Amino acid sequence: MRKICILLAFLLALPSAAQSERRTVRSGELWPDNTGVHINAHGGGVLKYGDTYYWFGEHKSDHTSAALVGVTCYASTDLVNWRNCGVALSVSDEKGSDIERGCILERPKVIYNPVTKQFCMWFHLELKGRGYDAARYGVAVSDRPEGPYRFLYSQRADAGTWPVEFGEKELATIDTLNADNFKEQWTPAWLEAVKQGLYVKRDFGTGQMSRDMTLFVDDDGKAYHIFSSEDNLTLHIAELTGDYLHHTGHYTRLAPAGHNEAPAIFKHEGTYWMITSGCTGWDPNEARMFSATSIWGPWTQHPNPCRGPKAELTFGGQSTYILEIVNSKSSNSRYRWVFMADIWRPRHPSDARYIWLPIEFEDGKPVIRWRDEWDLCE
Ligand code: DGJ
Repeated sequence: MRKICILLAFLLALPSAAQSERRTVRSGELWPDNTGVHINAHGGGVLKYGDTYYWFGEHKSDHTSAALVGVTCYASTDLVNWRNCGVALSVSDEKGSDIERGCILERPKVIYNPVTKQFCMWFHLELKGRGYDAARYGVAVSDRPEGPYRFLYSQRADAGTWPVEFGEKELATIDTLNADNFKEQWTPAWLEAVKQGLYVKRDFGTGQMSRDMTLFVDDDGKAYHIFSSEDNLTLHIAELTGDYLHHTGHYTRLAPAGHNEAPAIFKHEGTYWMITSGCTGWDPNEARMFSATSIWGPWTQHPNPCRGPKAELTFGGQSTYILEIVNSKSSNSRYRWVFMADIWRPRHPSDARYIWLPIEFEDGKPVIRWRDEWDLCE
């Protein structure tokens, strides 16, 4: 009996899985938060504010990818152990609300505006019951990083404005484009017309489609919204107003007709690097990579940066964000950038997994090597 009591006392003294400190990142495995529950923040992004990192993402339910809860937030000082801060932006129970429970709310990202002192959240929004037709972005704000966020509005992008690179010549060409002549898709003529702006013209009045997205704040404080537009065929990079709450109307197109989703961007030693995916729904495909020395382009495409097993399928995942490791307990890491991706599980969405891998440079270009496990402080 005494032995059993000693064993019990010993077991009780052991820290539970939920409380024990993790040291390493294990991509593809369950990632428990401080309560021992798998982190539920998919298609997410990370904001550093003060000494703390805040991870925002889509709350996924067990049986549907529609938003039944909203955007979740987790906090950490070491990027490995995350405290669940609850729901940052709640879906609404008001019938007809843009963010009515059951809408599709994806890929939320938060940036901090030092002038207004507001945390600005942007996300991809699809109105309830309309599949992926609405193709809008949504904006919400809070004066605290973890929220609650107040929903402001949702809409399509840049109605009534042309991309900055469309001059007289391009506009004259667009004038000649007639959608009726391009009913058959994926023909060389159709691809050329898309490149020239067939769908920009189609959506000029109502606003450009806005789906998979990220946000980026440049060194000069200017912020940009980067999103899949034109039926996911072309990425748009749209400049934000000083308060980070609206588009200025200045935008450029990246990889016209290239069919890119899931944009993630970082700027390293003066070069902008963007990693994206192709468009295969929830299934993984090969990552793409682009670089430019100006956010306005020109952008150059490079080969897939992934290396290792399933590199041709982004290790089974899809990019969502590239986070910078700065001034934290992990600052002695030899890595500066972490590639974040999602391994989707559409039949059990809440069980989707995360890929976090360090970005290395080879011949001046980013390389993402698979690791079963790695220490952020290595
Ligand atoms: C791929 C996108 O990247 C995801 O965010 C999601 O919209 C799925 N498509 C839906 O099929």
